[in-house]
Amino acid sequence: MAELRFTFPWRKLEFGFVICLLVLFPITKSEQVSGVCSVAYGESEGCSSSSKILIKGGTVVNAHHQEVADVYVEDGIIVSVQPNINVGDDVKVIDATGKYVMPGGIDPHTHLATEFIVSETVDDFFSGQAGALAGGTTMNINFVLPVDGSLTAGFEEFAEKAKTSCMDYGFHMAITKWDETVEKEMEIMVKEKGINSFKFFLAYKEALMINDELLVRGLKKCKSLGALPMVHAENGDAIAEAQLEMIDLGITGPEGHALSRPAVLEGEATARAIRLAAFVNTPIYVVHVMSIDAMEEIAKARKAGQRVIGEPIAAGLVLNESGIFDPSFTVAAMNLMSPPIRKAGHDKALQGALATGVLQLVGTDHCSFNSTQKALGIDDFRMVPNGVNGIEERMHLVWNTMVESGLITPPDYVRITSTECAKIFNIYPRKGAILAGSDADIIILNPKASFEISAATHHTKSDTNVFEGQRGKGKVEVTIAGGKVVWEGGELKVVPGSGRYIELPPFSYLFDGIDKLDAKYKSSLGAPVQRFKAST
Ligand code: URP
Ligand code: ZN
Ligand code: ZN
Repeated sequence: MAELRFTFPWRKLEFGFVICLLVLFPITKSEQVSGVCSVAYGESEGCSSSSKILIKGGTVVNAHHQEVADVYVEDGIIVSVQPNINVGDDVKVIDATGKYVMPGGIDPHTHLATEFIVSETVDDFFSGQAGALAGGTTMNINFVLPVDGSLTAGFEEFAEKAKTSCMDYGFHMAITKWDETVEKEMEIMVKEKGINSFKFFLAYKEALMINDELLVRGLKKCKSLGALPMVHAENGDAIAEAQLEMIDLGITGPEGHALSRPAVLEGEATARAIRLAAFVNTPIYVVHVMSIDAMEEIAKARKAGQRVIGEPIAAGLVLNESGIFDPSFTVAAMNLMSPPIRKAGHDKALQGALATGVLQLVGTDHCSFNSTQKALGIDDFRMVPNGVNGIEERMHLVWNTMVESGLITPPDYVRITSTECAKIFNIYPRKGAILAGSDADIIILNPKASFEISAATHHTKSDTNVFEGQRGKGKVEVTIAGGKVVWEGGELKVVPGSGRYIELPPFSYLFDGIDKLDAKYKSSLGAPVQRFKAST
């Protein structure tokens, strides 16, 4: 086969390319030079990628168990997991001796191709997912924002944008206003469109924020549909006041963002959302838990038996607020997200909460903007687009911080990066497991190899990386997505359009028994009281 020179869409570097290419991704952007990576595109059929793969001799890790075994994959599905599987010559064999064979990561929280208040995120579905695959994540659940309040228009817009996907993905939907149409559309999203979760923003006043009345209505509607309500928990009214105070004090730099969003406001909103969910008797999912304050509210509610899920993100687990106080505007703005990355100490507390089951799974909130976009707020922190990267880095950072450090075991790692997410969003064991019959989304991690993170070598689009310079042990050496080897030997082979939309069915395990609790509550009311009419 002939070799072509080909420019990876967002890089100025050229890469070798094997000419079985049928799908050409339009070369429209060449935004930055960022180091060396080897990428080949290939149409799934006809290229060297075999549909039969045997992974030999690795330690196969599931959330419930680990064992030394072989894994045989055919046509995108795991066929068999057992020792000493023999195969014919038409099978690609990968030696995993001394390495961990685990389910691909599932990132429950991303914002690819999203127009977010002041700017559109720099990573689209293709570039974000290409990075994800190089970092061991094989599925993401992306937030859909309604268009002018319309859920249907929002869904259609994101379905179109996601056509370039190179790995499987699902959708959450945000609710930003309330009327009969929105209520009906929520039903359509759940019953016809494969969405089983809705996000409510308690912050971003005059943009996405909703009030308590809408939240209660939304919680009730979610409960009736078996959909999981998710909350961005910060008190948006108090933040708006604090922002004005910062400007009055002459604090216009990115640190003003952190100072106007203290942890107490995250704790307050988390407590409020959790209590309103208790009032409605519905499960609730708190996204991007960044502080001890929020984490302790979740711990308290869970101890009392409430079904609350807490999601820390990679940035909250490994970074601290020194970044946003950096004298360089570019570095400070790169660290700006909501809720803010907290003072040192919160990171360790969140790690501990994750290790002990107070928090259940790790996301990224990948919402990446480049330094030019971040500079929109050079004179006013309120204009800096909010968000950090993480879709490519999460699996490495979590392994190094949690497993390499001894805080958790490999099965725990699988649980918090993949299995729990699959269970919460009701696609387990199709996803989140190395079991016969599961989708062949698999990673091979070498615990002895090292990683180092840099914008110069990452595969996503931004010219900065909030984890710049972080290094550690545990490297994803192979990623298999949908039964194809897409990352091996530092080479990424990704096909736009190969990712599938995964419908997420309602009524996950979090809803089991909710009806019984409702019945118990009703029978405990002692009302209506039967009263005798007074006789005359
Ligand atoms: O700063 C953030 N978190 N940006 C993404 C949007 C959100 O609130 O999740
Ligand atoms: Zn949020
Ligand atoms: Zn987010």
